[in-house]
Amino acid sequence: AIHLEGRHFLKELDFTAEEFRGLIDLAAELKAAKRSGAEVQRLRGRNIVLIFEKSSTRTRCSFEVAAADQGASTTYLDPSGSHIGSKESARDTARVLGRMFDAIEFRGDGQHVVEELAAHAGVPVYNGLTDDWHPTQMLADVLTMKEHSDKPLEELSFAYLGDARFNMGNSYLVTGALLGMDVRIVAPKAYWPAEEVVAQAREAAAASGATITLTEDVAEGVRGADFVATDVWVSMGEPKEVWDERIKALAPYAVTMDVLRATGNPRVKFLHCLPAFHDLGTTVAREIHERHGLTELEVSDEVFESEHSVVFDEAENRMHTIKAVMVATLTGVTAAGSKASV
Ligand code: CP
Ligand code: NVA
Repeated sequence: AIHLEGRHFLKELDFTAEEFRGLIDLAAELKAAKRSGAEVQRLRGRNIVLIFEKSSTRTRCSFEVAAADQGASTTYLDPSGSHIGSKESARDTARVLGRMFDAIEFRGDGQHVVEELAAHAGVPVYNGLTDDWHPTQMLADVLTMKEHSDKPLEELSFAYLGDARFNMGNSYLVTGALLGMDVRIVAPKAYWPAEEVVAQAREAAAASGATITLTEDVAEGVRGADFVATDVWVSMGEPKEVWDERIKALAPYAVTMDVLRATGNPRVKFLHCLPAFHDLGTTVAREIHERHGLTELEVSDEVFESEHSVVFDEAENRMHTIKAVMVATLTGVTAAGSKASV
């Protein structure tokens, strides 16, 4: 049986494959319940604090809407809205907020900060993205994969192209490894996940039967893939100056129609956690355009807008999966079939 009540949600490998799949199943049930108007509020009277040291559209809104749907309240602390990290340590902040709130979400640079909060809060702490991991995003991505494939999870293959030594690349690698998937990291060697992350993934893969491939070769990396994923080439918190080197190194790994064709799978689907750089709709994009003459980077507009793209299902699924994390860790409810139904 799965016991998630009182648990933190800090990184993927803190969970067994069964627990991780359990959260996905619960999210699917909560999604269906919301759609049919049959959602049961299990978090009435609960209070959840959301600490954001970096900006967010999806993650923040997912926590707020999911909490509201479930009858809980949220308090949002923006990057300058609290003393954490400047005047007050993570440890002290955790002990204060743990006295007032039933759960704490944290987004920032440091994995050590979210771990420190978890060590001292006395209530569940959720990682809303750090430089190392983006675990709530992985729940949404796997739910989206399930919805867009008839295969069992352990038969799915996906290729992640681009900057793989940051949160998204790391998280994809370990999540695929945990769930027994065929995971391909396709990037220049300098952009592969750190040795330590690869070692953790290999260990998880040995237990799950996952296949792990790290390759610089796009054609080899994407062949036969059910899903192709990418992420921005410069992440939050990185200096603008790195754009030049990133564009130079990663341009061959942009997801274009040619890349999708190279999978040989006409039903291949495209994933992106978003925000994505695929047109001139943003100030950053216009700056890059002025400097480099490019209008699209990690993904072509053609792919982004194509029938292969499931990025908005993926974005919606952030909300349903984050709801599952809160419901499971605050009430112990699991997907129907194991303990109690939704
Ligand atoms: N994918 C994601 O985490 O989006 P936000 O930065 O908007 O939360
Ligand atoms: N790698 C990106 C993910 C955004 C959701 C970043 O950290 O900015």
